[in-house]
Amino acid sequence: MVSLKSLTVAALVASSRPRDLAFNYDTDKVRGVNLGGWFVLEPWITPSIFQPWENDNSVVDEYTFTTALGKDSATQQLTQHWGSWIQDDDFKQIAQAGLNHVRIPIGYWALNPLPGEPYVQGQLPFLDSAIKSARNYGLKVMLDLHGAPGSQNGFDNSGRNGSIDWQSGDNVKNTLIAISNLAERYKNDLDVVTAIELINEPGNWGLDMNQLKEYYYNGWGNVRDTSRDTAVVIHDAFLNIDSYWNGFMNAASGVNNVILDTHIYQVFSQQEVARSPCAHVQNACSNGPNISSTDKWLVVGEWSAAQTDCAKWLNGKGKGARYDGTLPGKSEGYYGSCDGKYEGTVAALSDTDKTNLAYFVEAQLDAFEQHTGWIFWAWKTESAPEWNLRDLLAADLFPQPLTSRKFPSQCGTSQCLIPGN
Ligand SMILES: *[C@@H]1O[C@H](CO)[C@@H](O)[C@H](O)[C@H]1NC(C)=O
Ligand SMILES: *[C@@H]1O[C@H](CO)[C@@H](O)[C@H](O)[C@H]1NC(C)=O
Repeated sequence: MVSLKSLTVAALVASSRPRDLAFNYDTDKVRGVNLGGWFVLEPWITPSIFQPWENDNSVVDEYTFTTALGKDSATQQLTQHWGSWIQDDDFKQIAQAGLNHVRIPIGYWALNPLPGEPYVQGQLPFLDSAIKSARNYGLKVMLDLHGAPGSQNGFDNSGRNGSIDWQSGDNVKNTLIAISNLAERYKNDLDVVTAIELINEPGNWGLDMNQLKEYYYNGWGNVRDTSRDTAVVIHDAFLNIDSYWNGFMNAASGVNNVILDTHIYQVFSQQEVARSPCAHVQNACSNGPNISSTDKWLVVGEWSAAQTDCAKWLNGKGKGARYDGTLPGKSEGYYGSCDGKYEGTVAALSDTDKTNLAYFVEAQLDAFEQHTGWIFWAWKTESAPEWNLRDLLAADLFPQPLTSRKFPSQCGTSQCLIPGN
């Protein structure tokens, strides 16, 4: 059972008061973008950083990258990266595109470094500047604890690929300290920092869900202790957003200003990459009713334009793709060539890919606006075209303004509107 023991009566009473959030999550749509690959390295977003180890499987994530380089050299390289990957002008362009939120992934090692670990620090001054830039351009920030000690999902994007050890030892306790430190640092920036996410993508298959729920209560309490006017974001742990999560931490249970975050991709299984362009659209639309029937704020906090898993190293450094049958162990299918989608620019995609992608993006926007809104993954990639919002906007493959549609009502019909399909 989930215990409420950590919640004081005062916290519960305070929680039921209306909050004075700087963004109205009831009436305004979240339209945002993730600043991925910045404070948590992902080989597929910035393959150039991992190129020296192209054929060396001992370096696959930020943990092994910092291990291989050692503190001095890792600090030097990463400081260079933090100062260049996202700059003030990116915030300007994001605001000019009509977006109103950025979600910024950060690892616990920036907030609560643990002794004996290879990770390096120095991210926070860059995060401070990011918040200033966001303020200057009128953007709101969702801070997202993307990596937790021991790894909450075993993915490279948690900082450390491998096993799920988050619920062992002092890891959960240290995660709560990281959350407190994060809330404390930005408690005077609540005009910009409107939401704090307690943990990204906890993998239900490797976790005790009751302990995760207890962490959600405790983390919510820690954020509330310092920043009373921040929404608290919980991730769905890949479980059903309505049938599983309705009833948990909703207003009726006395816990206010909680956002449930769900991530909707259609490329991480054989069955999904096998879908036709029309099936991708239909599937995107099919999320709409579930999204609208959630009993707390619901944000699709990650999604992309990808209909394939072709992007170089998307499935892990050195790994291939399900789509063209090059992912080891998953090579039972071949659905098409990854040419142009493995590495490249949006402009260089084939005309067919561009057409399919434009319909898919609009269908997703239609479905994902059924509740609180959405946050695209990601703003920039070095070479993964289907994931690069900056390039998609430049190529006119993402609506401008964001509410305009070239292909209206895709979700209102069972017919496929894509020409030639
Ligand atoms: C990540 O860890 C898993 C499980 O230990 C392993 O199978 C996989 O090969 C690793 N990925 C990379 C890129 O090393
Ligand atoms: C929507 O919810 C139903 C009932 O819980 C579930 O069976 C279905 O898989 C969900 N669909 C999506 C797209 O999440």
